Amino acid sequence: MQIAAKDVQVDYSAADGTLFRALGPVTMTVESGTFVALLGPSGCGKSTLIRALAGLEPVSGGELRIDGRGINGPSVKVGVMFQDANLMPWRTVSQNVALPLELRHADLEKRAVAVKRVLEPLGLAEFGDVYPGQLSGGMAQRVALGRVLVQEPEVLLLDEPFGALDALNREKISLDLLRIWAQRRQTVLMVTHDVNEAVLLSDRVFVMSQRPGHIIADIPVDLERPRSPEMIYEASFVAIAREVRSAIDTA
Ligand SMILES: Nc1ncnc2c1ncn2[C@@H]1O[C@H](COP(=O)(O)OP(=O)(O)OP(=O)(O)O)[C@@H](O)[C@H]1O
Ligand SMILES: [Mg+2]
Repeated sequence: MQIAAKDVQVDYSAADGTLFRALGPVTMTVESGTFVALLGPSGCGKSTLIRALAGLEPVSGGELRIDGRGINGPSVKVGVMFQDANLMPWRTVSQNVALPLELRHADLEKRAVAVKRVLEPLGLAEFGDVYPGQLSGGMAQRVALGRVLVQEPEVLLLDEPFGALDALNREKISLDLLRIWAQRRQTVLMVTHDVNEAVLLSDRVFVMSQRPGHIIADIPVDLERPRSPEMIYEASFVAIAREVRSAIDTA
């Protein structure tokens, strides 16, 4: 499913009644089945764009489309994940992951199969009966990712999903995400502040300007897949990372 934004703006009204432009105009296309990273200065509107695409925020102008259709609310085809895992502490890992299926009234057996299929590649097979309070930050984010994947979305909107984790843990989870993505080829738009992470994972990197953010650079990442962590030391990788970095510096 393709993601497309054309001249999208989001305005908020300030306390004094004036309009405050949080985003845009943004024009961009994320082609179906590609992995795109989105970087930009704090406050430029990245999360606003993710929320709008997730159907959680109306746009004030322009057009947002997923799979050619306008967005008028959350969709099961579109999975969204934020920096905070937001697990329910009174439910086990399996019960947290199963939640979206439960809300859709999937039958118990189907739920169990789907949950198992998701926990395995996330390295959580042994942790189904554990409660969130006993999980590390990295594991909690894995569970949150599982809860998104269990719906088998065709689009993944990831807003700094691993931003709160240490670098090595973040790298491990993001490479697991890449392996999962390689099998299902969802369309991914992932916000990150980490240049190397952006380049290592994606097919393209979009860089946004200061608020109200618009796309100031669209940098293709022509590196072979599967990607491995050592690639960050290769000259071709470094050249792309440097290009991304300089786009950010001019933002
Ligand atoms: N609900 C809201 N009401 C009013 N202003 C908002 C609202 N949400 C966000 N903003 C403002 O809109 C702008 C863009 O915010 P947004 O959270 O999208 O930025 P961001 O690029 O995700 O930043 P960060 O990298 O720090 O996460 C900011 O100036 C923010 O203060
Ligand atoms: Mg944000």
